[in-house]
Amino acid sequence: MPSVPSSERTNHRSPIGISANPLGDPRTLQKVTLGNCSNPLSREKYPAARRNRMASKLTKERLSLISRHLDQRLPLPDLNTPFSTERDSLFSDDVEYKPIDRSILPSPPPESNPTMSVQAPHNTLLIPGPIEFDDAVLQSMSHYAESHVAPGFVKVFGETLTLVRKLFQSTNPTAQPFIVAGSGTLGWDLVSANLIERGENALVLNTGYFGDSFGQCLETYGANVTHLKAPIGDRTPLEQVEQALKEKPYKLITLTHVDTSTGVLGDVKGVAQLVRRVSPNTLVVVDGVCSVGSEEIAFDEWDLDAVVTASQKAIGCPPGLSIVMTSGRAIQAAQSRKTPPGAYYASIANWLPIMQNYENNKPSYFATPPTQLVHALHTTLTQITTDVPGRFAIHTEVSDKVKAAAAELGLKQVASRPECQAHGMTAMYLPEGLVPADVLPGLLKRGVIFAAGLHKEIATKYIRFGHMGVTATDPKRGDVDKALAALKEALAEAKQAKGL
Ligand SMILES: Cc1ncc(COP(=O)(O)O)c(C=O)c1O
Repeated sequence: MPSVPSSERTNHRSPIGISANPLGDPRTLQKVTLGNCSNPLSREKYPAARRNRMASKLTKERLSLISRHLDQRLPLPDLNTPFSTERDSLFSDDVEYKPIDRSILPSPPPESNPTMSVQAPHNTLLIPGPIEFDDAVLQSMSHYAESHVAPGFVKVFGETLTLVRKLFQSTNPTAQPFIVAGSGTLGWDLVSANLIERGENALVLNTGYFGDSFGQCLETYGANVTHLKAPIGDRTPLEQVEQALKEKPYKLITLTHVDTSTGVLGDVKGVAQLVRRVSPNTLVVVDGVCSVGSEEIAFDEWDLDAVVTASQKAIGCPPGLSIVMTSGRAIQAAQSRKTPPGAYYASIANWLPIMQNYENNKPSYFATPPTQLVHALHTTLTQITTDVPGRFAIHTEVSDKVKAAAAELGLKQVASRPECQAHGMTAMYLPEGLVPADVLPGLLKRGVIFAAGLHKEIATKYIRFGHMGVTATDPKRGDVDKALAALKEALAEAKQAKGL
């Protein structure tokens, strides 16, 4: 390789301020810098027309440098993505993925808290998400750097999508899971940008804070939103939903499976059945951010169209992944839009081939997936899907225990009727005269973190206890017993301090 004079190795800038040698190729450096001239387009030396011709030549050379990997003449495989040639994935730059062998986890040092195993000692996070993590899930996050289109990762991502189908008890090949970097909110955008068009009607069954927000998201994309607001702590009666559905055509209906602000459990199966009977073309969209992984969802059997969830609640993975399950009917609605979707990152058209390719073990690219998080999701879904009905049963058992203990302490639940009560969290009113700030510090002092109220009309009157994921499924941790004991003591302390 020819040597480059040191004067030319200094940081030459192109006329538009970009380094003339982004790839460090000394031959191109010589070409682009035109000998020793520090400004190749100097006004004094060249007339305007010549300067323009030279600028265009420089720009082309620079672009060919920085986009060299996109050169269509290179022998790239057909990646079948919307932007079809991104990486050369013929050659493996990774090793075969091997799921973490849980038996090789180092044992916790004897003096540490045995319930926290290898994690640094910390207060137990018992809010309704994010939740406590299993060690193996956290360890998956320490996966070494790997390309998002390398065979090892492609396999893991593909398997993870298949595990999402299992989680939703779905075998219908027209159904399609999406896993996209983002939080639960991104799922609302995916629905609002793709499944409904400007001016079409959406019916929101509103059981709290998250119904309000989903409605706002739909409005952002131009939908006409009607809210059917349930009384605080209750669901909207099915008769009222039926009446609303008969009043005008709705493109979609949304309901929050568990509204995290109230702990109210929606009747997803009942609403879906009603919609199919009364308004069969209306898409049934479920906000399952606080329910997937702790509440039963039979996606195919209940004939749902979209369930939006996130990694950090009952799924038991760190925050950062938006997970959306869609039906063939929903995909068709997205594909037969009259107008293009009003979003780019949240466009189903952009993500659909990527998900299909990954699940078919083909590398694909639209936007970079968070590889470590996908490993963590793979680990937790592998654990969860060994026994999906068993997982729901454990959450119900633990929930019954928490609710009975709360009742014994004289605490009323925000969700008034048993059939409306979530199984992964409990929202409970404090005794008259107490506010969350009187009780939460007492809990924290005892190593337990609960959440304050969130529903704006009652926020100062109640607290929320999340008992999802490992907190419910791993009794060895002792999270629930510890929390209930701490709650009893913190309440007594707060009452005493206030002279109640
Ligand atoms: C029911 C529900 N929907 C949507 C969201 C929004 O999810 P995220 O905060 O992950 O964006 C949340 C968050 O807590 C939620 O509880």
